[in-house]
Amino acid sequence: MRLTPIDIGSFWLPRQTSTLAPEVDAGFHVVYWLSVGFFVLVVGAMAYFAVRYRRRREGEKTSSIDHSTALEIVWTTIPALMLLGLFAMGLKGYASAAVAPAEALEIQVTAEKWLWTFTYPNGTTTVNELGVPKDRPVRLVMSSKDIVHSFFVPEFRIKQDLVPGAYTTTWFQATEAKDVAVLCAEYCGTGHSDMGAKIIVMDEPVYKDWLEKGGGASDLPPAELGKKLFTQRSCATCHSLDGSRIQGPSLKGLIGRSEDLEGGASVKVDENYIRESILNPGAKIVRGYPAAMPTFQGLLKDREIDALIAYLKSVN
Ligand code: CUA
Repeated sequence: MRLTPIDIGSFWLPRQTSTLAPEVDAGFHVVYWLSVGFFVLVVGAMAYFAVRYRRRREGEKTSSIDHSTALEIVWTTIPALMLLGLFAMGLKGYASAAVAPAEALEIQVTAEKWLWTFTYPNGTTTVNELGVPKDRPVRLVMSSKDIVHSFFVPEFRIKQDLVPGAYTTTWFQATEAKDVAVLCAEYCGTGHSDMGAKIIVMDEPVYKDWLEKGGGASDLPPAELGKKLFTQRSCATCHSLDGSRIQGPSLKGLIGRSEDLEGGASVKVDENYIRESILNPGAKIVRGYPAAMPTFQGLLKDREIDALIAYLKSVN
């Protein structure tokens, strides 16, 4: 196999699975290989001159060197033209990345410490899983509930900050029906590195069906559904199941245990306390922990809360 620069590039860049990716990579490779070329040119000339014009005798002096107008015009004009070329490429790429096609499907994205929520035109909401149709432009209208996060999809070559109190947008058109990783690319606290999501790219009919069923709602038995939700909904980002302390209290041996609360009271953990803590996390804060948990009101159906409780009982 003969390697072209683009092939070599794909060794260290993720797969290209959006329509934008080839254009972004092309721009990157042009800059990259120009830099490699100039590096060799400059360092090569430096090494050559160092050897060629080294001091050979004691007391030898460098002859005085005058300038060369022709040379100076050449080494100013050529790089200036290259920079203009790069600017034009960059501007074109920026324009295609910034402006979504008018017919794009619009999905709302909300970021908060430390999860992603996606709201579809029909009202369906999913957490940490974004279902999209393949080969259709998707425009994301994004905002943050707390601090700055950044929606980064390496395979799509898109990255856009989400800020509180304003909307930012980005768009993509996926070219392969597969799962694609989303990362948060703006440091947002202790859960930052766990703030991942998954884009599920589906063929159009599969997507329609998926959306109709409420975004992958499943008919698993409660404890199994709960196990799935526990990871999907980011519970595991803040709550361990092995007794170790992370952002929030560990959920090991949860049912029946007595928790001391901020303010001096205490509570015996039962189904109602778990449900309340999921829907209104600020109501009874365990002493020594920050009131940091977001509410899952509207993000979990009753059946899903039941499933989570069933799962927590099963690992108790
Ligand atoms: Cu959200 Cu880093």
